[in-house]
Amino acid sequence: MDTFAFIIHPIDPKRDVSRKFPLLGRLLNEPMIHFLSAYFPPVYISEINGIVSQATGKEIKGWLVACPYTATRMLELPEQTVYRKIIQTGHLAEKLGANILGLGAYTSVVGDGGVTVARRLDIPVTSGDAYTVSIALQALRRAARQMGISLNDACAAVVGATGAIGRVCAEILSLQVAELYLVGRRREPLEALKDALMNGGSAARLHVSTELADLRQAQLIVTVTSSVQAVLQPEFLRSGSVICDVARPRDTSARVAAVRQDVLVIDGGVVDVPGQVDFHFDFGLPPGKAFACMAETMALALEGRFEDYTIGKDISRARVEEITAIAERHGFALSGLRSFERAIQPEYIARVRALAGIQD
Ligand SMILES: NC(=O)c1ccc[n+]([C@@H]2O[C@H](COP(=O)([O-])OP(=O)(O)OC[C@H]3O[C@@H](n4cnc5c(N)ncnc54)[C@H](OP(=O)(O)O)[C@@H]3O)[C@@H](O)[C@H]2O)c1
Repeated sequence: MDTFAFIIHPIDPKRDVSRKFPLLGRLLNEPMIHFLSAYFPPVYISEINGIVSQATGKEIKGWLVACPYTATRMLELPEQTVYRKIIQTGHLAEKLGANILGLGAYTSVVGDGGVTVARRLDIPVTSGDAYTVSIALQALRRAARQMGISLNDACAAVVGATGAIGRVCAEILSLQVAELYLVGRRREPLEALKDALMNGGSAARLHVSTELADLRQAQLIVTVTSSVQAVLQPEFLRSGSVICDVARPRDTSARVAAVRQDVLVIDGGVVDVPGQVDFHFDFGLPPGKAFACMAETMALALEGRFEDYTIGKDISRARVEEITAIAERHGFALSGLRSFERAIQPEYIARVRALAGIQD
């Protein structure tokens, strides 16, 4: 049977450590977890069964393995130290017999986005970022329809626009919307991205901004920074807007959920998995669902594409289109919309629309 493995790591330290080690999660506080995570070895988490292609009937098996570093530690520690731990975790996947390895969350954010890791492992590697882009934009389009926003006439924004995921989201949106804000911390790479999009035939009016307050112009926002703190605050958002939050940990402040019920925040990147998947581990999604980056790894295993796939920080639109076709053929699909980890019901949308003064 063809196989895969996927690396996860603690994002919300106490909650995530408790999921595997309930006692440690209770005893240790967050600073202790950040500190100790640097001394922990890679951890075997669980076996994954029951993924079956709708196209071919092929079944695959996989494993979840954990790199112990928290997101904060991954950003603080020297790059080479982080690579070493990710590679050790990759060796665990190799020993288990995985044919391909997916890099979850910050294990693909750090450094060169999987290039060094792939070079030092015997099995191929993918970050899952290409399918993450596809699913985030599908979710954004679905939410826009439900909020009565026409994509072609919309003003959109990408926060973290120069990142691996942000850049290709911006590229695709620049061909579909009327106006697009490229938002980040550093003006120079944002200006370079704007030039590249204009040369690539962008139909949208493009703006560069290092001010989150400019998000008040945007009806549609994709936010995908690598910040460990929330960056989107309630005062930056336009009434009736849709925010697709792809970042893990999330970019949208919990205050937005509390005080801005006139905006729709959706979790980017949740996918229905074909077959009767059992992860034998609760990583925070309901049964049958996975993050898009995990789904990319599974889809490649179902396809038998055992090669380095999405690695590096320069993801092409062609790669996004190809993995979308592969994943859809095997039966992966955008899951129902979720907001702050809860399924969104039609009444919820109706309430947001009413509070934003959007007519039916
Ligand atoms: N949901 C999923 O399935 C899934 C899958 C993969 C990844 N992710 C998440 O997606 C996020 C981004 O991943 P990536 O690989 O695209 O990372 P990346 O290539 O490192 O890009 C991150 C971008 O965020 C910007 N940024 C960082 N801090 C910021 C801040 N405080 N304000 C504004 N911009 C800021 C960076 O700009 P600078 O150049 O200024 O640093 C960079 O442009 C991560 O949170 C990751 O965990 C989610």
